[in-house]
Amino acid sequence: MKKIGILFGMEESFPKAFVDRVNSKKEAGISAEFVSIDKVVQGETSDYTVIIDRISQDVPFYRGMLKNAAVSGTAVINNPFWWSADEKFFNNALMTKVGVPVPKTVLLPSNERPDDTSEKSFRNLKFPFDWDTIFNYIGFPAYMKPFAGGGWKSVYKVHNAEDFFIKHGETGQLVMMLQEEIVFEEYYRCYCIGNKYVKVMPYEPRNPHHLRYVADFKPSPAKLKELEGIVLNICGTLGYDFNTVELALRDGVPYAIDFCNPAPDAEASSVGEENFEWVVEHAAKYAIERAKAHKPGQDNLTWGDYIKTSVAKKPVADLAGTPAKKPAAPRKAPAKKATTTAKTTTKTTAAKTTAKPAAKKPAAKSTPKPAAKKATPKKK
Ligand SMILES: Nc1ncnc2c1ncn2[C@@H]1O[C@H](COP(=O)(O)OP(=O)(O)O)[C@@H](O)[C@H]1O
Ligand SMILES: [Mg+2]
Repeated sequence: MKKIGILFGMEESFPKAFVDRVNSKKEAGISAEFVSIDKVVQGETSDYTVIIDRISQDVPFYRGMLKNAAVSGTAVINNPFWWSADEKFFNNALMTKVGVPVPKTVLLPSNERPDDTSEKSFRNLKFPFDWDTIFNYIGFPAYMKPFAGGGWKSVYKVHNAEDFFIKHGETGQLVMMLQEEIVFEEYYRCYCIGNKYVKVMPYEPRNPHHLRYVADFKPSPAKLKELEGIVLNICGTLGYDFNTVELALRDGVPYAIDFCNPAPDAEASSVGEENFEWVVEHAAKYAIERAKAHKPGQDNLTWGDYIKTSVAKKPVADLAGTPAKKPAAPRKAPAKKATTTAKTTTKTTAAKTTAKPAAKKPAAKSTPKPAAKKATPKKK
C-alpha cells in the first residue's frame, strides 16, 4: 500500500478534506492519512510514499524529518531542500532574469544585530548605507516587508524617509526588503499545484480579511491565459509543487508581488467554498499522481528549472524566452534579460547597525546612523 500523508499545524479544514478526498477516489493500493511520527532515525525509510508538508516552515524538527524522508525516496510536497534555501528577495532577483515583471526591490540589513554577533561581524557593511540612492530608486510610498515571511506579518507601507526609519526601527532582527509600491487596478491570487493546475482567484487585498476573495475582477480569456502563463513560469522556475502567486496589474501589466507561499492559506473560511473545493480536489489528484509515479530508492522530489539550469552550468538567461516560459508581458523598464526567483527562509544576519532608527534624526536626508553601538533591541 502506498501511503500519502499530510503534515499540518493549526489549520482545520484542509487536512481532513484532503485525506477524505484522496480516500474517496479509491485508487487501488493508495491511501491517505495524517502523518504520525514517534521517532526519526537517520537514513530510515519513511512509511510514506508522499508527504504534503503544510507546516515545516514553523517547525524546524519537521523540516529535518522531511529531508531524512526525502533521502530515502519520499516525494515531499514541497521540496524541503529548496524551501529551506529560498526566500523572497532571491525570488525577485531570479524573476528579473526570466522576464517576469517584479516591483523594484532592495534588501536591507536588519535593524538589530542578530544574537551572538557584534559590530565586528559587520565590518563589511558601509555606514551609512547608501540611503539616498535606495530611496530614489524605490520611491515613496513603498512597501517594507520581511525577505522571508508570510501572512502579512511585519508588512509596512512607508510614506517617506522618516517614516521608513521609524518603522524599520520596529523590525528587530528581521531582514527586510524595501519595495516599490505597485498601484494596481486589479489583483489576483493564484494557486498552482504540480506546476500544471492553476486557479486564478480575483483578490482584493484592500478589503477586510474575510472579504478579500470577494473581488469583482473579471479577466478576459486572453488575460487569464497570460496570468496562468506567468504563474507556471514562476512556479516551474522555482520548483514548487504547491504555491500561490499574487499578481498586481498596473496599466494591464501583471507584477509578481508575493510568490513564495509553499504552504498557502487553504482554509475554507478564508478562501471561500469554490476555491476550497478546487484546492482539495487538485491537491488530492496531484498527490495520487505523485504516489503512482514514485520510484523506490531514488529522489522523488521536484527540482525547479533554476536549479536544473545551474547544475547543468547553463546561463540563467536560458530560462527566459523558451516557448513555455515566454514572458506574457513585456517588462516596462528593460531589466536585463531574464529573471528568476528563489526563496529563502529565515535567519539572516543583518547588521544591527545599519539603519539606525532614525528616530531622532530628522528623516531628512536619509542616512541613518550606522549601527548604533548598542542597538537596543526593540521588542516588537
Ligand atoms: N509592492 C507592493 N505594491 C503594492 N501592494 C503591496 C506590495 N507589497 C505588498 N503589498 C500588499 O501587502 C500585502 C501583503 O504583502 P505580501 O508581499 O503578500 O506579504 P505576505 O507574504 O506576508 O502575504 C499584499 O497582499 C499586497 O496587498
Ligand atoms: Mg501575500
